[in-house]
Amino acid sequence: MPNLMEKIISLCKRRGFVFPSSEIYGGFGSCYDFGPLGVEMKNNIKRAWWEEMTKNQNPPAGGIVGLDAAILMSPKVWEASGHLTAGFADELVECKSCHKRFKADEIKQRLHTPPPPSRPKGWPLVCPECGGQFTEPRKFNLMMKTFVGPVEDEAAVTYLRAETCQGIYMNYENVLNSMRLKIPFGMAQVGKAFRNEITTKNFIFRIREFDQMEMEWFCHPKEAEKYFDYWKKERINWYINLGIKKENLRLREVPKEERPHYSKETVDIEYKFPFDWGELEAINNRGDFDLSNHSKNSGKDLRYVDELRSSSPSLRSVFDEETKERYFPYITETSAGVERIFLAILCDAYQEIEGGRTKTTKPTKEVEVLLKLDKKIAPIKVAVLPLVRNKPELVKKAKEVYQLLKPYFTCQYDELGSIGRRYRRQDEIGTILTLTIDFESLKQEDLTVRDRDTMKQERVKIKNLVEVLKRTLK
Ligand code: GAP
Repeated sequence: MPNLMEKIISLCKRRGFVFPSSEIYGGFGSCYDFGPLGVEMKNNIKRAWWEEMTKNQNPPAGGIVGLDAAILMSPKVWEASGHLTAGFADELVECKSCHKRFKADEIKQRLHTPPPPSRPKGWPLVCPECGGQFTEPRKFNLMMKTFVGPVEDEAAVTYLRAETCQGIYMNYENVLNSMRLKIPFGMAQVGKAFRNEITTKNFIFRIREFDQMEMEWFCHPKEAEKYFDYWKKERINWYINLGIKKENLRLREVPKEERPHYSKETVDIEYKFPFDWGELEAINNRGDFDLSNHSKNSGKDLRYVDELRSSSPSLRSVFDEETKERYFPYITETSAGVERIFLAILCDAYQEIEGGRTKTTKPTKEVEVLLKLDKKIAPIKVAVLPLVRNKPELVKKAKEVYQLLKPYFTCQYDELGSIGRRYRRQDEIGTILTLTIDFESLKQEDLTVRDRDTMKQERVKIKNLVEVLKRTLK
């Protein structure tokens, strides 16, 4: 669809999904705020992931437990993880005239024209903003620095976390012991991550503050390949079950030179965005990179001891302290960004219907928008409308129904404009069911329930409403 991104951005602003941060001051460096509908939808994505990981997931062995670690951690964590070195940096060039910085590989892609023969030695391409010359490419670290405590000196420096999983590694032993877990098992966490991205673009695709949903699966090194394959399949199916079209999803094997510094093997789940294929989630075989480095740097032995063998009385005599197996578990990680999934879901669900959806009436001049969101994801499940707003008895009844439903479902009450316009407003934000209180309702204690996708209407008694809606929205 032409201009789909512009349409999505406009819908997000107009209908309360996403606003630019600090907008009255002209916005702020690729940060975004999620409005009333945006926060509901974002929470629904996180909830769907959390339930999948901690309740529905049934990996071949072991379970997955949750964690909520602090964003701020000792800077030693980031030294050991390799994030303060060149491993977590973008290669950038800077324009010598306007001093704007660009990713070196993007500039190479964007500017195809060969440099004129007279161009001086050095970086051969020119700045797309002002035509100035570039510096040689240099590495810029993406970690966001901050200070902890009353004195702003080097001793007080730490960083906003760039990936949530480091909090999981910090708590690996605490969780293993307190929950009496055995390998293999997983730890899941949802939370903010921060990166000082230099090139930010495509709305909420690449931003500086975002939510990650990460699951770290700890297993025996010999089983790492098996679980890597397992998680690849599980994760892509999760997106398909959320209603994203299969043809818009793909798995991409990430070649060695593009892989993060900690990865032995990476597969990205990509979505076909209007601008290009883009990464939604990375599945990494991190080997023992994290636990072995944190062991080395902290002095704490994070190797796993196979207690199963030593706790069994019959085996204890065979496997003594010397022969007990001690190893750093391998980690398979699934790491997804909430905002990217949010954007992919909107792109996938957005439809325009020329001449309107109702084929029985005269075609409308306007294009009608339908957001075909999955019922788990839609921000508003139920809208309650009085047929007209100048009949106090209808308004009173509709407000009673709204109060009845509010504790059970995310609801919206709407009385402004014609009934047709209100249905369209609900279709545009993906509301699953729209309830209308008409004159019959006053006599029969019922109302009509309109299904977003089929537009079919069904009369339901108000006394049965909560149960019927619970069943439909399940
Ligand atoms: N712990 C592994 C890790 O962080 P990553 O590939 O750097 O891996 C994982 O990030 C996911 O986080 C990405 O697939 C993407 O969905 C999201 N993500 C990363 N950087 C982002 C950014 N600047 N803006 C929005 N989402 C981002």
